[in-house]
Amino acid sequence: MSRPAKALIDLNALRHNVALAKGLSPHSGTMAIVKANAYGHGVVPVARAIEDMVPAFGVACIEEALELREAGITKPICLLEGAFCSDEIVAAAEHDFWLSVVSREQLQVLLAARLNRPVKAWLWVDSGMHRLGIRPEEVVDSYAALSTTGNVADCVVLATHFACADELKNEFTHQQLLRLKTGMAGLPEQPRVSLSLANSAALMAWPECRADWNRPGIMLYGSSPFSVHHPQAEKLLPVMTLTSSVIALREVPVGESVGYAARWHASRPSRIATVAIGYGDGYPVHAPDGTPVLVKGQRCSLVGRVSMDMITVDVTHLSDVAVGDEVVLWGNGLSVNEVATSAGTISYELLARMPRRVPRSYSE
Ligand SMILES: Cc1ncc(COP(=O)(O)O)c(C=O)c1O
Repeated sequence: MSRPAKALIDLNALRHNVALAKGLSPHSGTMAIVKANAYGHGVVPVARAIEDMVPAFGVACIEEALELREAGITKPICLLEGAFCSDEIVAAAEHDFWLSVVSREQLQVLLAARLNRPVKAWLWVDSGMHRLGIRPEEVVDSYAALSTTGNVADCVVLATHFACADELKNEFTHQQLLRLKTGMAGLPEQPRVSLSLANSAALMAWPECRADWNRPGIMLYGSSPFSVHHPQAEKLLPVMTLTSSVIALREVPVGESVGYAARWHASRPSRIATVAIGYGDGYPVHAPDGTPVLVKGQRCSLVGRVSMDMITVDVTHLSDVAVGDEVVLWGNGLSVNEVATSAGTISYELLARMPRRVPRSYSE
């Protein structure tokens, strides 16, 4: 018998979430964001499962894009951080990768490149996040340079990224939109400039941000980008369910401690289940006592510090727990957001850092 820690990836749920994202903005192109190994879900099986539903994919770097090409994915792939060196521009042109231009420096390198064929370019505007992108007042010149160089194919997409779209009442999203529109004011009216604005949160909650291209990531994997209830988020289905099994059970008398640093002490005679999952499997090391865990479908509390390969769970209130019983750490029946919040992190981190040691199994 192999180690029971596994990530079950529900490809039907993934397709359901992609359909939801598309349905929110039916006249837009949906670029599925699959960077960081498709947020830990396994980029090749994920891309294969949805290639017929989306016109393009988004990744962080050329290595991620090449992995998709080598697996036979033929749709365009956007390099969201652009080229890290000039060789990557040549490779992007060869492999039909869409190249982001995220700074004046990248713009100059692209203009100076010697390419056999032109690339499609996405020009990123820093509308307030102050991470990547040219300044709004640089839009007109930069856009003109990209539109006239022989190194860039047909239309240039103008893109920006929102800092606070997951905060439903935060006006900063509107301010960012305004700054972008101000920067665009001097652009020629014809042909109309293609725009890409929305990540998952903006796509779900800010209809004015839906544009020619949307870029949903986390929602495709069934996790809400919001910390509060949102009707669209209710419709998402979790794609990853992280499971393992009870591998040992013991009775712990009052006053005895459990685990490293003796963090938790039994305040009543307690039944403690040891589960084969730990921070070596991507379970958050900072999860405190009380973090929810499902044992045989019933909510229980993590007790004691998370070890590399094991956690300990209080199952005193369950009558019939046995070694071998199934445990769900997140996914079906227990949202990854709830576990992330309890551990002081975000679902993105828990999903994206899921290590290779945890075998993924894919179900249709
Ligand atoms: C440029 C860009 N667009 C879209 C996304 C997708 O964001 P989300 O996963 O919040 O939908 C990301 C993710 O960080 C991103 O960096």
